[in-house]
Amino acid sequence: MTALEITGLHKNYVDSYSGEEVTAIGDVSFSVDEGEFVSVLGPSGCGKTTVLNIVAGFVNLTEGSVVVDGREVGGPGPDRGVVFQSHALFPWKTVLGNVVFGLRMKGVPRAERDAKGKEFLELVGLGGFEHKYPHELSGGMQQRLGVARVLANEPAVMLMDEPFASIDAQTRRKLQEDLTRIFEKRHPTVFFVTHDVDEAVFLSDRIVVLSQRPSRVREIVTVDLPRPREWRTAVELPEFRAIANRVNELLVDDEAAQDGGTDDGSGGGNDGDGAAVAGV
Ligand SMILES: Nc1ncnc2c1ncn2[C@@H]1O[C@H](COP(=O)(O)OP(=O)(O)O)[C@@H](O)[C@H]1O
Ligand SMILES: [Mg+2]
Repeated sequence: MTALEITGLHKNYVDSYSGEEVTAIGDVSFSVDEGEFVSVLGPSGCGKTTVLNIVAGFVNLTEGSVVVDGREVGGPGPDRGVVFQSHALFPWKTVLGNVVFGLRMKGVPRAERDAKGKEFLELVGLGGFEHKYPHELSGGMQQRLGVARVLANEPAVMLMDEPFASIDAQTRRKLQEDLTRIFEKRHPTVFFVTHDVDEAVFLSDRIVVLSQRPSRVREIVTVDLPRPREWRTAVELPEFRAIANRVNELLVDDEAAQDGGTDDGSGGGNDGDGAAVAGV
C-alpha cells in the first residue's frame, strides 16, 4: 500500500522583498509505501523543507499532486504527524499529557488514551517519566517525546525535517539509533528530510536525492542494508560505504553540472569544493 504519493510537484514562491518569482521545486515525484522509511536528501536551499511543508499542508503547491492515504492533501490534518525541530511541546503539560493530547482532541476516553500514551512512552524509552514536565527532560528526551506524541496519533505518515541537525554529534548518533529502533519495532511510515548522507543511509529504506534548486529527483537510491541496524556495525559494512559513495557522487555531479552550466563570469570551474559540500 502506498501511504504518500507525490506526482509532478512544482512550487514557485514570490519573493516578498523583490516581488520576483522563484522556482523552489522544479519537478519532483516519488512515493512512500506504508511502513517504509524514506529520506529526501539534497543540498541546502534545494527545497526539501518546502516539499515537507507541502505534504504537511502548511504550504500550497503550485502544480502537481500530493496524496496521503488515498486523499489529496488540502491543508494540515491528523493523518500527517510532524515532529518539529524545536519539539513544540506544551511546557505546562506533563510528559503523558503531551503524548495523549491528540488522542484527547479526538475524544478517545481517558483510560484508553492513557494506556496508549504509556505504551508509546515505553516505546521511545521514556517509561516512568509520565509525570515529569518537558523542562525536566534533556534535549534528547524531549526529542523522543516529540516522536512519541506523533506516533500515539497513529498518522498515515510521520514527517521529520532535519530533527537532529542542531544536536551535538554524540547525542545525534544516539537519537538516530533510537529512531531506528522505534522504526524497527513499529514500522511507522516515515518521510525524513536531511542533508547528511550517512544519516540518510543509516536510517532509510530508500533515499530520494534531489538536485539543486529548482529541484528534480536525481535518483532514488535503495538502501538494502540488513536490520536491525546499529552505527558501529552498519558503517563497517562495504555496502554502507558503497551506497554513501553513490549518493555523494550524485551530489557532487550535480554541483559540477551547476558550476559548468552557469555563466557567472568568474571562470572558476570545479575546484574541488564538491567534496566538502558532500560532507565526506
Ligand atoms: N516563504 C518563502 N518565500 C520565498 N522563498 C522561499 C520561501 N521558503 C523557501 N523559499 C526559497 O525556496 C528555496 C527552497 O527552500 P527550502 O525548502 O527551505 O530548502 P531546503 O530545506 O532544502 O534548505 C530557497 O531558495 C528558499 O530561499
Ligand atoms: Mg530545510
